[in-house]
Amino acid sequence: MTAKIVTIFNQKGGCAKTMTTMQVGGTWGMLGLKVCIIDMDPQNTAKLWSLQATAEAPFPAEVLNFAPLGKNFIHKVEQLVDKYDVILVDCPPAIESPVPWTSLLIADYAVIPVIPVLDNVWASKIAEDLIIKARDERPNEVLGATYLLSVMRKGKVFDTCLDSLKEDSKLPIMSSKVGMRNAYPECQAYGCSVGAFGASVAKNEIEAVAYELANQVGLNLKKPKAAKK
Ligand SMILES: Nc1ncnc2c1ncn2[C@@H]1O[C@H](COP(=O)(O)OP(=O)(O)OP(=O)(O)O)[C@@H](O)[C@H]1O
Ligand SMILES: [Mg+2]
Repeated sequence: MTAKIVTIFNQKGGCAKTMTTMQVGGTWGMLGLKVCIIDMDPQNTAKLWSLQATAEAPFPAEVLNFAPLGKNFIHKVEQLVDKYDVILVDCPPAIESPVPWTSLLIADYAVIPVIPVLDNVWASKIAEDLIIKARDERPNEVLGATYLLSVMRKGKVFDTCLDSLKEDSKLPIMSSKVGMRNAYPECQAYGCSVGAFGASVAKNEIEAVAYELANQVGLNLKKPKAAKK
């Protein structure tokens, strides 16, 4: 087993990096992958989230707090690749942090969550430039990258911002997207991902993201068995 390494980053704060990591990582875990989530944010949101789970219903991925290690975390991650199918790195928001750059040096794939509002669209340029720099640094390796639209709402302002992201961006935008829904932050209280709540729009939405991303990253996900009638 050699884990694929997926980094979720964007120096912009609050654009749903941790939400994406926990929902996608949890869903991949529920769909049978061995998943490890590396919490690289000193706020430790991912780790705290997973600790809300009970022993009877643990969070469906291992969550490790490597934030105190700073950029040296990559050596620890390299020691884990034989144990998991996929390792997700939840990056901190600060632009001066070395963690997003370091994580791009070991990643197979990078996901940049972006909310379609202008402050996020402006900041995404910085993330995009970092991807381009990392690709230059690793010319013989493939570093895939995509935007994931998150916390989507209806409204003209969001449509306009989305148009401007599409026009200016050099990276693809995933066709699956994540809406603004109460079910997502509710999961923090129970230490789960939306899959644990049963059938819902949020569950369908995250499964669509999880399957699309697995396909792009090269992970083998089995389709869930159809429910018996
Ligand atoms: N799709 C969503 N619907 C509703 N609320 C959401 C959604 N995604 C994220 N949130 C909420 O928005 C806030 C920011 O999300 P999150 O913590 O995932 O962002 P982040 O990019 O990890 O932030 P930071 O930069 O602080 O690490 C949180 O309070 C989270 O619960
Ligand atoms: Mg976060």
